[in-house]
Amino acid sequence: MLNNHKQPTIFCIFGAGGDLSKRKLFPALFNLFIDKGLPERFCIVGLARDCDIDPFRKHMREAVQTFSRQAIKDEKTWSDFASKIEFICGEFGDGELYSELGKFIAAKEKEWDEKVVRVYYLSVPPSVVEMISQNLDKAHLSKERKLDRIVIEKPFGRDIDSSAELNRKLTQAWQEKQIFRIDHYLGKETVQNLLAFRFGNALYEPIWNRQFIDHVQITVAEEVGVEKRGGYYDHSGALRDMIQNHLLQLLCMVAMEPPVSFNADEVRNKKVDVLKAIRPLTPETVPTSAIRGQYGEGSNCGKPVPGYREEEGVDPHSQTETYAALKLYVDNWRWQDVPFYLRTGKRLEARVSQIIIAFRPVPHQMFPLTAAETIEPNRLVINIQPEEEIILRFQAKEPGTGMYLRTASMDFRYQDEFKTASPEAYETLLFDVMVGDGTLFMRDDQEHAAWQVVTPVLEVWERTPAFSMPNYAAGSWGPSGANTLLAQDGRNWFSPLWQRTPFK
Ligand code: BG6
Repeated sequence: MLNNHKQPTIFCIFGAGGDLSKRKLFPALFNLFIDKGLPERFCIVGLARDCDIDPFRKHMREAVQTFSRQAIKDEKTWSDFASKIEFICGEFGDGELYSELGKFIAAKEKEWDEKVVRVYYLSVPPSVVEMISQNLDKAHLSKERKLDRIVIEKPFGRDIDSSAELNRKLTQAWQEKQIFRIDHYLGKETVQNLLAFRFGNALYEPIWNRQFIDHVQITVAEEVGVEKRGGYYDHSGALRDMIQNHLLQLLCMVAMEPPVSFNADEVRNKKVDVLKAIRPLTPETVPTSAIRGQYGEGSNCGKPVPGYREEEGVDPHSQTETYAALKLYVDNWRWQDVPFYLRTGKRLEARVSQIIIAFRPVPHQMFPLTAAETIEPNRLVINIQPEEEIILRFQAKEPGTGMYLRTASMDFRYQDEFKTASPEAYETLLFDVMVGDGTLFMRDDQEHAAWQVVTPVLEVWERTPAFSMPNYAAGSWGPSGANTLLAQDGRNWFSPLWQRTPFK
């Protein structure tokens, strides 16, 4: 990590005592500190209702110990980091909190004799985002257009209208360049590598189109259920929670045209083009293009687990989907008629995020039937997590006197190739906010276009109760309807774990 941003920075966390702060933000900041990714003059200001600085520092030490990628090696490292943590107590609705914050920033600027970058990270429920933004504005903490930055977590609105309304309110106080909407998938090393893979190599671009690619499968499967987030999740569901943001962003990375330069707006323009080119679903096409599911009881790692409706905070008659699969088309010259199949779900058999590019079969089969009966068209498997790898599956001759073909693979594994551990997504993203680089963040038009894609599905699902739910057992690969989505096109989902079973 290069300490290539020297400008003093004050990193303010609203909701500093919350779960995100503990699991992601403090560990990420600590790792940046160790890797010299923070400026010399830096401080973190926690803002929350109840606070007491010493217990808070202690609490964050435990959080870092539990969740950080790199351990606390010695007391000095921790105490140097902890000395940068400050606290301001108060209610988010109280103007006094913001004037205290303003005084704190002014005092630091005086002490450091320089203007500082101020990051306001809203790690708070969506219901208070607008209020905090307005209060920051009233206290003149949004006015330094090049220095003041606000970071917003998802969900960014609940639907297309509320998202547009939130944008309207935010842009009354902030310029678009000051707003950083986080989608943590974009910070994942393997996701960023998609850009390097596609546009740093001449090899793939000529075949990256409808002429050579049959279809694309994107899977984000989770083993966990809703955990303690039933209250939030039951009003959200898989389509809003995962597809509107993470999966559509992955689709954009696969489908986008080459940007002219690696510049934030240039990259984001190309992604918006993809979202706008997605063929709109309609009430007529939704039933054959979108499948929902909800897990019932089942097992996880050999242990029985409850169904979704039995989870804490969930309505026992809930209609919320914990699984969603979509078939989308990108109507442009490159992708016309190439289906993109997306699926995501909770309580599935394994945790795996994966993109598979399925190439077309060879145009003419010259091998005798006996040699070729198991021939599968080439596939490029991009594993995002937990494995971080790219695997190209191709046909090879089996050793021996006869001519028999079987599938072999060329593998690239991060772990083997690069000896250093990948930074966590939040490390990359927090670093980018501090240097003011918006490339990996969602712009307002991206958000809007992504909502446009899922809105017809949300509307149809809201109108039509799903009588068959729950329709998949915890620990399975999801509802059978998801298979029909591909079967109607003569295809099937590839098992996400297939590439680990060689020569199948
Ligand atoms: C979040 C969703 O955005 O992503 C969660 O709100 C989900 O429901 C999580 O569990 C998955 O992230 P990751 O990085 O574990 O794949």
